[in-house]
Amino acid sequence: MVKQWKAAVIGPGGRGGGWAKRLHVHDECELIAVCDINKSRAEHVARANGNCNVYTKASELFKKEGLLDFVVIATPHYLHAPQTVLAAENDVHVLCEKPMAINLQQADQMIIAARKNCVTLGIGFQHRFEVVHDYMYDAARGKEGELGSLGRITDFTLWARHYRSGMYYMASSPVDPSTGVSPGQWRGRWATEGAGILINQAVHDIDMFQWIVGPFKSLSAHASTIAREHALIEVEDTVTACFTTKDGALGTMNFSTSNKKAPQNRIIVQGENGYVESRGQFITADTRYKDEEDWEVPFMAPKRHNLLENFIDAMANEKDPMVCGEEGRKSVEVIRAILKSVQEERTVYFPVKDTITYPTLHNLNRDKPLSVDDIL
Ligand SMILES: NC(=O)c1ccc[n+]([C@@H]2O[C@H](COP(=O)([O-])OP(=O)(O)OC[C@H]3O[C@@H](n4cnc5c(N)ncnc54)[C@H](O)[C@@H]3O)[C@@H](O)[C@H]2O)c1
Repeated sequence: MVKQWKAAVIGPGGRGGGWAKRLHVHDECELIAVCDINKSRAEHVARANGNCNVYTKASELFKKEGLLDFVVIATPHYLHAPQTVLAAENDVHVLCEKPMAINLQQADQMIIAARKNCVTLGIGFQHRFEVVHDYMYDAARGKEGELGSLGRITDFTLWARHYRSGMYYMASSPVDPSTGVSPGQWRGRWATEGAGILINQAVHDIDMFQWIVGPFKSLSAHASTIAREHALIEVEDTVTACFTTKDGALGTMNFSTSNKKAPQNRIIVQGENGYVESRGQFITADTRYKDEEDWEVPFMAPKRHNLLENFIDAMANEKDPMVCGEEGRKSVEVIRAILKSVQEERTVYFPVKDTITYPTLHNLNRDKPLSVDDIL
């Protein structure tokens, strides 16, 4: 197979290291460069993946690598928009890690830049490609998929637990000093991470849910910073939100990074004709009327990751990837709606006017003295 797509990774020090490896071994891609403000991290990744070129500034990467076809952006959230716009202005396609951006203004800048410069923009929601979610989508959308139709959706519930320690926030990599944001780590801060669990971990769940049961009509939400070990972060670690959809269904979502021993993540979508439930990769469904003999379909859904193949197909055929910019924006809109509801203590309706500053959250521990044991 010809390695026809010349690729680079911006931010290979963390998640981007996995991307570099994947691109290096991919049949159709050639990893030609990595770019990280932490030069030794970038050099380490380059050495491990074919000795590609190393840059410490994205502007240099685009200036020197004239043959570049696409970049994977795996930098902290506040950099996704400026780096996507820069790539698009250099006629380079972009596969940007989730979340798309930290607010709707940034998401719109990315969409406009990609459309104006005719480059492909994809957002890194790999869970969209898992079979378990395909089944849920088909069942909820009323198609006669393998699980049958749920009929009209009545209600839905999501419990998403993604435990993160205090150290996870304290030890995250430092912000880029050339961007003008105040020094420090990037996670746990409104200006650089954009929110807490909502934007970093739960953004996957939010993306899935808006896709499966949305579009939403309104929501009202509460958010706090509850865990003692999260006393020093600005952003939320626990959220509960109530939704209405445009089709009239009601639902709730609960998110938390606070629980060390949390139960498995769980989604239930209930319709007039039955329900479908997932716990991790395990699905249970009952899609007959209750007066017939009840039956259940418990099975393990195999994982299938093809975000990258879908993106390559989109570039090759000049069409949108499954999660294009407009699609990636939807979870940002839900997150901003939740934060707006928390800040203004009211129900928020879609489409959302993104005018909020950040809420001052109720942090149960901020006033208490912290010990080292609380953080470790
Ligand atoms: N899709 C997923 O499941 C998934 C999983 C983990 C992380 N992510 C996403 O990946 C992104 C990175 O997260 P992470 O956990 O790897 O963070 P990280 O802090 O571990 O890595 C970010 C890297 O970006 C570098 N960087 C910072 N500013 C830069 C700049 N101006 N130019 C170039 N490099 C710069 C840092 O030095 C660091 O090496 C985030 O958007 C995160 O949400 C996605």
